[in-house]
Amino acid sequence: MDKNLILTGNENKSLYRNDIVEHFDKDKRIVLKLGDTYKFIKEIPDESIQLIVTSPPYNLGKEYESKTSIEKYLTHQEKVIKELIRVLNNDGSICWEVGNYVTEFEIYPLDIFYYQIFKKYDLKLRNRIIWKFNHGLHASKRFSGRYETLLWFTKSDNYTFNLDSVRVPSKYPGKTHFKGPNRGKPSGNPLGKNPSDMWEFLSNEWDECIWEIPNVKANHPEKTIHPCQYPIELVERCVLALTNENEWVLDPYCGVGSALLAAIKRNRKAVGVDKEGEYIQIAKDRINDYFVGNLKYRQLGKPVHKPSGKVSKVPKEWINNGIYKGGDNENN
Ligand SMILES: C[S@@+](CC[C@H](N)C(=O)[O-])C[C@H]1O[C@@H](n2cnc3c(N)ncnc32)[C@H](O)[C@@H]1O
Repeated sequence: MDKNLILTGNENKSLYRNDIVEHFDKDKRIVLKLGDTYKFIKEIPDESIQLIVTSPPYNLGKEYESKTSIEKYLTHQEKVIKELIRVLNNDGSICWEVGNYVTEFEIYPLDIFYYQIFKKYDLKLRNRIIWKFNHGLHASKRFSGRYETLLWFTKSDNYTFNLDSVRVPSKYPGKTHFKGPNRGKPSGNPLGKNPSDMWEFLSNEWDECIWEIPNVKANHPEKTIHPCQYPIELVERCVLALTNENEWVLDPYCGVGSALLAAIKRNRKAVGVDKEGEYIQIAKDRINDYFVGNLKYRQLGKPVHKPSGKVSKVPKEWINNGIYKGGDNENN
């Protein structure tokens, strides 16, 4: 048995702790470092990471950061990004999840600034994903902000994109071609449809054809003490689409380890660094909890509402020949 492969169902928590190492070692499966991002990335070899996914500090003066000018903040982030590009595989991806920097009641959408940096180093933008949620501060001098963006860049034109792994059930799988040689046959894809570049939190996601990914606020099952946690399922979708099993996923600002959990759940190798000891400790505990089956998390793409009616039914021929992979159906 591979000693580095941690198996689920084992009750011995200390075993899992020992398997989380602090220094990058390509033969291990989980690396979790308490320290400074820039210093830590220096120890990662060139082209060894398949996916870098993170939500960096936004320079808002949160408890884990000291606010500085946007220029100084971006100059430091550019240094980090240059190193991140060095460690990224040539067919790898970077997913950079950001909101607004706010000062003097003026907002600076950070993706606008980050885009220029990534372009300067020849990365190619594949999607600007809007992640919409229904909770947050209520603004009084502008409209309340209810989305953040995830910029997905690749290092080259030759990149991994496993669309079939992240398809979502079609709204109306029972739709058929209405003319031509396939008239009367199902017109959709039995594996589901492309989830699009809009990831929204709605109570009726199926009616709106979009994904529900609530942000991690007080009543979310994943909530810890971290003020800006992102949901595991947000990262999980990136992991499934942009990496294959046993490849490395890095979160350079890993907080309480949400990205690492997404990677581990999907049998990828996970590496993360954060400068706050308390968050790293929670990340370790969450990883341990995951392996003993105690971690609470939202299932990827968990539906909250199903449409009804004839066209919402999955075609019998898809079910009979076993090709339907789009989730639950109304026929059963
Ligand atoms: C937006 S939060 C990321 C939260 C994470 N996505 C999660 O789900 O827990 C940014 C994180 O960056 C960390 N951080 C800020 N500056 C850092 C630095 N120079 N080195 C390492 N970590 C840093 C903070 O401690 C914070 O946890």
